[in-house]
Amino acid sequence: MTIRIAGIGTSLPEKIITNNDLAKSIDTSDEWINERTGIRRRHVGGVTSRMAIESGRVAMADAGVSPDDIDLLILSTTTPDQRFPATSAVVQSGLELSCGAFDVNAVCAGFLYGYVTAYGLMSIPGGPSTVLLCGSDSLASLTDWTDRSTAILFGDGAGSVILERHEQGDLLGWDLGADGNLQSILYCDHGDFIQMEGREVFKKAVRAVVGSVDKALSNAGLTADDIDVFLPHQANIRIIEAIANRVGIPMEKTHNVIADTGNTSSASIPLAMAKAQANGVLQPGAVVCMTGFGGGMTWGTAVVRW
Ligand code: COA
Repeated sequence: MTIRIAGIGTSLPEKIITNNDLAKSIDTSDEWINERTGIRRRHVGGVTSRMAIESGRVAMADAGVSPDDIDLLILSTTTPDQRFPATSAVVQSGLELSCGAFDVNAVCAGFLYGYVTAYGLMSIPGGPSTVLLCGSDSLASLTDWTDRSTAILFGDGAGSVILERHEQGDLLGWDLGADGNLQSILYCDHGDFIQMEGREVFKKAVRAVVGSVDKALSNAGLTADDIDVFLPHQANIRIIEAIANRVGIPMEKTHNVIADTGNTSSASIPLAMAKAQANGVLQPGAVVCMTGFGGGMTWGTAVVRW
């Protein structure tokens, strides 16, 4: 059995905060933020369930499937609407689905945890044939907009994909990892804002992701040269450059949205995927490598044949 991504959908809230807007209230500048992160603007004001529903609707239309065709909904989010029910229940209702639904929280690596989980469930006998996998996060709501060390980085957004059984496409190799000893460098307590040791996160993320991509490629029996499209988590363009450089992937093979979105956590990889689709590089047979990292720390990689 093989599984392919049959449709992609995204959603970004209307309200935009530019670097120049930020520089009016905190001690920073467009030049500093752009040089250190590659971010120019971010969307804010999103509600996790609403963005997920909107992106899910677009993905279903892109794949040509109806709500009745969806056998399972997996929502990756770190910013659920409520403590419970799981936000996936709200999304299931909003999209008029009648299937099972659950949330995954692996912070910014959540989309990849969701992807591998979906693939595993689809592979068991009698498992779902068509899965809606959605990444939606509203990190702007967890951001202290007076703290220049974090306010420059985060934004809201959602991206969804439809996974379906098909003779074309497959998951060739994957890796999921975590190191809970690194909780203290990136976390958010209930009722508080995101706390982060930026430099430490930068270093640990590069190391973890490079190792993860190497493992997934080795599981797939491939090398970096085989990758046609590279979709890394959109946290910082310098992190993306460091990873691409160490793995040995030319930057031309990456498709980035970070300048316009900032770090949208679970949504960043499907948003980058939509950009790659718009750029016309997601052709049948292309080898696509998705990789990400997040608080925990967590990380993950999936190498797929499109
Ligand atoms: N505007 C202007 N100056 C700033 C600033 C800002 N927003 N934030 C920090 N500075 C200053 C610092 O005070 C420091 O000044 P000093 O040299 O006088 O002490 C200087 O810029 C360098 O700070 P530093 O923290 O070393 O910068 P950096 O190059 O590491 O960039 C981050 C900071 C946060 C952009 C970078 O570390 C990063 O992106 N880390 C990863 C974060 C991440 O991806 N988190 C999410 C993971 S899912």
